[in-house]
Amino acid sequence: MTKAPIRVTITGAAGQIGYALLPRIASGQMFGPDQPVILQMLEIPMEKAMAALNGVAMELEDCAFPLLQDMVLTSEPDVAFKDANWCLLVGSKPRGPGMERGDLIRENGPIFTGQGRSINNNAASDVRVAVVGNPCNTNCLIAMHSAPDVPDDRFSAMTRLDQNRAQAQLAAKAGVHTSAVKNALIWGNHSATQVPDFVHTTINGVSAAEVIGDNDWLTTTFFETVQKRGAAIIAARGLSSAASAANGLVDHVRDLRNATPDGEWRSVCVKSDGSYGVPEGLISSFPVRADGKGGWEIVQGLELTPFLAEKIALSAKELSSERETVSGLLS
Ligand code: NAD
Ligand code: LMR
Repeated sequence: MTKAPIRVTITGAAGQIGYALLPRIASGQMFGPDQPVILQMLEIPMEKAMAALNGVAMELEDCAFPLLQDMVLTSEPDVAFKDANWCLLVGSKPRGPGMERGDLIRENGPIFTGQGRSINNNAASDVRVAVVGNPCNTNCLIAMHSAPDVPDDRFSAMTRLDQNRAQAQLAAKAGVHTSAVKNALIWGNHSATQVPDFVHTTINGVSAAEVIGDNDWLTTTFFETVQKRGAAIIAARGLSSAASAANGLVDHVRDLRNATPDGEWRSVCVKSDGSYGVPEGLISSFPVRADGKGGWEIVQGLELTPFLAEKIALSAKELSSERETVSGLLS
């Protein structure tokens, strides 16, 4: 029997990431090859943005995707979030060269109060929210606070792109295929303070730290390459990552929907319960396991080296400071 369609809201749907993301959702890569979808696409109420959104919808139509049941094009959040099962909050300003993601907070933060409220009032009772718009951890915090009727564990922000970046860098250094690298892991904020773990990541089943055996490279070159990869893409392309960001989001949603294989975890920014010394309530990246039924847990008991513990504490400090900056937006 054909499954009932799910409603997926994508904000900023006419932007760069939206353009790379929408065909991947409509072709079944995010929700599965037998799951019909209705795309509810939100853009700003400007003629140029709505015209671009219309063009994107025309292209989706021209793909004749078997799973695409319907499309809603709107500049009204209450229409876009109506009965939504998944809300992908992408729409916001990207940073330019020389900026940090946190510099966007005053401009982008307020977007997530209105959208959080609209999700609270309009979305389906099983709604899940994934935040990509930067600074994504703190924007997720704002949306979560603005949606008091939606359980906090439905909110997440994306570090799956960073996880993939770390996996690729470690594979290249070790001279192996990326599939040999398991449990690549990002802790903390999706920012230049993020912590790419090399102790708990394995290469062919052995700790990456041991396989690579070059602590200097791991704690400097590897660390900084992953932390600053977003800026390097901006410098190279003149625009922020889009194809890899959309790919990260496809992975992120699948990570939360599908049961995580035994012995593995994925990097997901979720509300901290105080694990690993990250202050409660912050949205921080942790090793997360999903149960395949909508539930997830933070993996406990990983032993932190003094180096990792110090770096995680620094990233958590930055998240606390971002929370302080937006305290006026947290209801
Ligand atoms: P973009 O400028 O190409 O597109 C953003 C779109 O959002 C635009 O079409 C704009 O009109 C729309 N928009 C702005 N405010 C909106 C609102 N209130 N409601 C609905 N739509 C709105 O930018 P992009 O390259 O697609 O990036 C989008 C965001 O994603 C940026 O903040 C960027 O920094 C972030 N990003 C995050 C990650 C991550 O790993 N978390 C990766 C890449 C990019
Ligand atoms: C990324 O990591 O590529 C995005 O967060 C975009 C950026 O500003 O770096």
